[in-house]
Amino acid sequence: MADEFSGFYKKTVAERQAILKKHAGLSDDEEALLKKEGPLSLEEANRMLENVVGTHPLPIGIAPNFLVNGKEYAVPMVLEEPSVVAAASYAAKLAREGGGFQTSSTEPVMIGQIQLVGVKNPEDAAKKIISRKQGLISMANSQDAPLVKYGGGVKEIDCKVLDTPRGKMLIVYLHVDTRDAMGANAVNTMAETIAPTLEELSGGKVRLRIISNLATERLARAKATWKKDTIGADVVEGVLDAYEFAAADQYRCTTHNKGIMNGVDAVVLATGNDFRAIEAGAHSYAALGGRYKPLTKYYKNKDGDLVGEIELPMAVGLVGGATKTHPTAKIAVKILGVKSARELGEVIAAVGLAQNFAALRALSTEGIQRGHLELHAKNYAVMAGASGELIELIAANMIKEKKVNYTRASELLKELLEERNRKAASET
Ligand code: MEV
Repeated sequence: MADEFSGFYKKTVAERQAILKKHAGLSDDEEALLKKEGPLSLEEANRMLENVVGTHPLPIGIAPNFLVNGKEYAVPMVLEEPSVVAAASYAAKLAREGGGFQTSSTEPVMIGQIQLVGVKNPEDAAKKIISRKQGLISMANSQDAPLVKYGGGVKEIDCKVLDTPRGKMLIVYLHVDTRDAMGANAVNTMAETIAPTLEELSGGKVRLRIISNLATERLARAKATWKKDTIGADVVEGVLDAYEFAAADQYRCTTHNKGIMNGVDAVVLATGNDFRAIEAGAHSYAALGGRYKPLTKYYKNKDGDLVGEIELPMAVGLVGGATKTHPTAKIAVKILGVKSARELGEVIAAVGLAQNFAALRALSTEGIQRGHLELHAKNYAVMAGASGELIELIAANMIKEKKVNYTRASELLKELLEERNRKAASET
């Protein structure tokens, strides 16, 4: 294997595809699929990643009905899971009776960490560093004049001493307003820039210099009221029961938050943002304080309506990265019509809340399988080898029979193809 792949990174995409064809025994059709270009050309893909051999498309769906702070949004979502888009737009539609979503966010401040080890007196070193704060801030900001021009840059520096099995460590925190950027590049560059000076000031050795994905200073919040008269009193009670279950039990809570991230990640991905950063930040935020908690909360207002709220870190950007280079990510941002990273983050928070409400509503009443069934049925039909009108036919049949699985799809396909062949033979 090592020989086959040696110098892989230096090859052209076509050469890599040929190597891969041999390595994995790909058929001509499979190789042709790898070679097929979609909206993201192989050339663009090859600039985005190392060792590129193809692209991997996912569907883009639109969730309409989102009324956020009085503004209408059609939300592009990218993911592979059936029902998520329909559920989000249904929840958003139900929320409209209560005025839609009200959102807010903090300034877009990201945290960078610089680790200093082998510092003789970390507490004194921390004081020394803080006494030079202004100089360090200017040094860091000199790395990113455009960011500073737009009101961003380092806003604060502070220190923390950690007592670890490898001795005391001094951690310097940079608090950087990254404006419309996600900020990883800006923060990491700034952290690397001031690190040598921190070494001098502390007498220690710098190790890590990196952004933290626990963006506690870059939060997005959304709130919605689902009217009792719109959703029914039982749904109000059902969602509250579901919420308290998640709040009391970590097994349930993980799935509760997963449902939120179905919506959040789908928009993050659609807009070319870093969904791993958002995932890491969200779950870490859920566990802030030592107990893993739901990212949403629900309660009844004085009229007996259901109020839902969400708050989560939201490190998304509109400049830099794939947002500006990925062709369909650029289109997604245009569809969404957001003008700032904060606006984007707030809409994403609203989608997360909608997604969660939809899941809890369905789970606490009819269950989610009914809603999933149609798309699952179509997927089984495709998996069994059906194409064209046969997909719909097989799916409808399975739903009618209440037998939605791969085996039944295969049987039905066989029957339908045989019937088709018989018809063709009798016509000739
Ligand atoms: C499935 O992708 C998401 C749900 O499991 C979320 C939840 O249980 O709340 C339906």
